Amino acid sequence: MNHGPQILRFTFRQRAEHFITMAVFVLLCMTGLPQKFFEAGWAHALVEGFGGIDRTRWVHRFCGVVLALATVIHFAGAAVTIWSRKAGFTMAPVRKDFEDAVLQLKFYLGMTNRQPRYDRYDYKQKFEYWGLVFGNVIMVVTGFVLFFPVAFAQLVPGQIIPAAKVAHSNEGLMAFFVITIWHIFNAHLNPDVFPFDASMFTGKISRERMLHEHPLELARIEGRPVEELAGHAAPDHGPEHPHG
Ligand code: HEM
Repeated sequence: MNHGPQILRFTFRQRAEHFITMAVFVLLCMTGLPQKFFEAGWAHALVEGFGGIDRTRWVHRFCGVVLALATVIHFAGAAVTIWSRKAGFTMAPVRKDFEDAVLQLKFYLGMTNRQPRYDRYDYKQKFEYWGLVFGNVIMVVTGFVLFFPVAFAQLVPGQIIPAAKVAHSNEGLMAFFVITIWHIFNAHLNPDVFPFDASMFTGKISRERMLHEHPLELARIEGRPVEELAGHAAPDHGPEHPHG
């Protein structure tokens, strides 16, 4: 489905943000999880690989700061783009997302032949995005509490410190599973894109896939009603359209 005319779906900035988040997330898991499961053989091997527990902890903290900065830069960039009206708030959950989810489920259960028509992001992508946003905020806040426990204990009740450790530790493990199972399946292993969807790295997606997965956005890009899209060939490289 990825042959034929290509359309630019992700700008360079969006791809760079994804790459940085992906790289630091992998390093955070590789340096955080061995601290949680410190008795396991694989944890020892990973810590040795990073050059000992002190280095492992410092790599974790460094990547934590990078993730915190990336999160702040993402919010600032999104706010500027939305306020300057260069793009709408395409990640905002709207009523149609809930209706789409119900219709899609009915289709999977064989209760209808109709399938939802999606815009730039479908309900699953939005759900995943907001899960990542809230998860990041929890990891960054609790991570900084663990980074500066004495300073935080002067500002908030002392019980917050062990509570932050439990939250950070368990949310970290959950984030690891959400990304390795859910995100990797949705983005790469599902039958529509198997074995690998490179669009977040190349920025491009075929018009055919757009027609199949995001027909409402394709209709807007090509300035024609969605019903008229099928046979129409799009230009090889669509315009840079940073819709959120
Ligand atoms: C989503 C990304 C992250 C994951 C998966 C993660 C995972 C973990 C895990 C599993 C632990 C061990 C907890 C335990 O001993 O039970 C840990 C500890 C820790 N994390 Fe994170 N973490 C993440 C982000 C962050 C961030 C953003 C910061 C902020 C600086 C941070 C700072 C810390 C600190 C200070 C510790 C205590 C160990 C130490 O002093 O080095 N983490 N992390």
